[in-house]
Amino acid sequence: MVGLARKTMSDLASLEQRALAELAVCADEPALRAWNTKYFGDKGEVVAALKAIGAIPKEERKTYGQEANRVKEALTKAFEGTLAGAKERALNASLTANPLDVTLPGRPVQRGRLHIATQIMRQIYSIFADMGFQVYRTREVESDEMNFELLNMPPHHPARDMWDTFHTTTPGVILRTHTSPGQIHVMREFHPNPIRVILPGMCYRYEAITTRSEIQFQQVEGLVIGQHVTMADLKGTITAFARRLFGQERQVRFRSSYFPFTEPSIEVDIDWPRDDPNADRLTKGTGWLEIMGAGMVHPVVLRNGGYDPAEYSGFAFGMGPQRITMLKHAIDDIRQFWGNDLRFLRQF
Ligand code: PHE
Repeated sequence: MVGLARKTMSDLASLEQRALAELAVCADEPALRAWNTKYFGDKGEVVAALKAIGAIPKEERKTYGQEANRVKEALTKAFEGTLAGAKERALNASLTANPLDVTLPGRPVQRGRLHIATQIMRQIYSIFADMGFQVYRTREVESDEMNFELLNMPPHHPARDMWDTFHTTTPGVILRTHTSPGQIHVMREFHPNPIRVILPGMCYRYEAITTRSEIQFQQVEGLVIGQHVTMADLKGTITAFARRLFGQERQVRFRSSYFPFTEPSIEVDIDWPRDDPNADRLTKGTGWLEIMGAGMVHPVVLRNGGYDPAEYSGFAFGMGPQRITMLKHAIDDIRQFWGNDLRFLRQF
C-alpha cells in the first residue's frame, strides 16, 4: 500500500503499470473480480489514491488530482474491456463444449393464477355490476365513531359484543370489524343522490381462531339508497345474486334477525342440494345455509349519512366471501385462505 500523506506522481504511474500488468494475466472472471476488489474495493488502492488527494500539498493537488482521476478512468476502462472479453470467451467455450440441441422440448413455463379469494371477489363484482352496482372502497382503519356509533351502536350498546376488535395506540382508532362503516362514507359523499354500491374489503375481529373464523377476513357490503326502495327490492336483489352464484335452481330463505343498523333485519339462507354428500354437515341437518346479514337501512343511519328518512329509504347487506367460497368448494377450514399453502391454492 502506498502511504496516504505523500502521494507522488510516480506512485500513480507505478500503480497504473502494476495494475495493468496484473490485469493482463487475469485468466478468468473470478480472477478479474479479485483484481477489481484489490484496486476498486472499499480498501482498494485506486480508491486510496483518490482519497489521498486531500492530503497533497496545495500547489501539487490539482495536477495530482487530475492524474489520479485519469488513472482511475484508464483502469476502469481496461477492466471493463478485459471483463467483456473474458465473458465472451467463457460463453464461446461453453457453446462449443455443450452444443445447443434446439430440438429438445422446451421447459414448461410455470403459470401463475389468481388467488381463490380474488377469483370469488371478481365473480361477485361482476354479478353486481350487471345489476348496476359500482365498487366503492373505504378504509380498513376506522374510528370507533364510524364503525359503531354512527351505525346506531353507542359506546355501551350490547351488540358491540359481536364485534370485538383490535385497537390502535390512538384512542378511538380501530381496525374495522365489518364493511358497514363504508355505508356512512358513501352516503356522506353522495347525498342526496341515489346510491347503488358494493363495498368490498378486509375486516378484522379479535376472535379465537377456529376452522370457521379468522381474525382477518373479507366482506362484501351492499348499499342501495333512493326514494321508494323497499324490502321487495332487497329480496329480489339477493335472490338474483344467490342464483347467479350458486345456480338458478337455488331457493332463498329470509329469516328475521337483528342488527342495530338495519330495521327490520334479516339473515339470508340458501337451500343446499340434498344429494351433496356434504349437505348434512354444512347445513347442520337443516338443509339451509346462511350466506349473509341484511336489512332496511335504519332511519338513524340514514340521518347520520345525510338522508332524510321521511323521503329516502334503502337496504344494506353484508356477506363473507370466504364463507361462500367454502360452501362452493367444500373447504372445511377458513384458515387455508391466508395460510399461503400452495398445495391448497393450486387447486383453484
Ligand atoms: N355488518 C354485518 C356483520 O358484519 C352484516 C350486515 C351488513 C348486516 C349490512 C346488515 C346489513 O355481521
